[in-house]
Amino acid sequence: MRIGLTADLHYGIGHWVDRRVERFVEQTIQPAALDVLVVAGDVAEMDSLAGAQLGVYHRELLGTLRAAAGCPVAFCAGNHDIWCSDPQSDSWEVYRAVLGEVAAATETVYLDQENLTLGDVALVGCYGHFDFSLRTPELSIAGKRVTGDHYRRQTPPGHHQPVWMDGQKIHWPWGDAEACAEICTGGEQRLHAALDQHRKIVFVSHGVPRMELNGHRESHDPVSRFLNAFSGTSRLEALIRQAVARGAQVLSVSGHTHKTVARRTLEGVEYLNVGGTYGEPRLVIEKI
Ligand SMILES: [Fe+2]
Ligand SMILES: [Fe+2]
Repeated sequence: MRIGLTADLHYGIGHWVDRRVERFVEQTIQPAALDVLVVAGDVAEMDSLAGAQLGVYHRELLGTLRAAAGCPVAFCAGNHDIWCSDPQSDSWEVYRAVLGEVAAATETVYLDQENLTLGDVALVGCYGHFDFSLRTPELSIAGKRVTGDHYRRQTPPGHHQPVWMDGQKIHWPWGDAEACAEICTGGEQRLHAALDQHRKIVFVSHGVPRMELNGHRESHDPVSRFLNAFSGTSRLEALIRQAVARGAQVLSVSGHTHKTVARRTLEGVEYLNVGGTYGEPRLVIEKI
């Protein structure tokens, strides 16, 4: 089975990016003869939309992908998929209802709500979010030790403005760690439902499950090292370990950091980060 993996398409962010994504769909996705296509979050922009317009870019892109790929298309949520500037909109409502409706309207599979099984393979997915578990240990910036408060405010020492925008753009009745736990608990339930029937699991998340997948690890830029805290969560890794403990063969696919990490084996599990960034989408094809 040829599984196509992409992420971070950010459709709707602007004309130049959108045309590049459309060309990617036409010139790369369509001729790839895939058996299934997976988008590991940041599918399209939700920010600045409101009311009936919520999900308009998602519907357009996922509909186009479904037609072009000619195979099942599955996606998980990313942080940009739930950004809401409109004070009337709630990111949790977008995460649950709007993206679910988008999937129904485009005949795609929203992995934050349901699994996709193809033969002996189950695709299980979960946005992940962040809980600072993947932060750089003992980080100091501008001569000051970075604390939990800096991470909560998404503002490193020596800065007056946030360097990570989720705190301004994601509105829901949770703190980040609580939201992360809630989201990953949903993933855990779907994973165990899949494991009742399947031993080959493609585990799709937007955030990375462990530091080795963020692609930033060797960076000496202190702000880049600060941003590791927002790259994903070790809760995803805990889910993968649960699958391995039940005898599953797991391929973990993530995105979000816009840094490609080629497929590698860590403790018996295959991992990759698709990478790709604004206007430079990537398609990774894996045979499973
Ligand atoms: Fe992204
Ligand atoms: Fe992201």
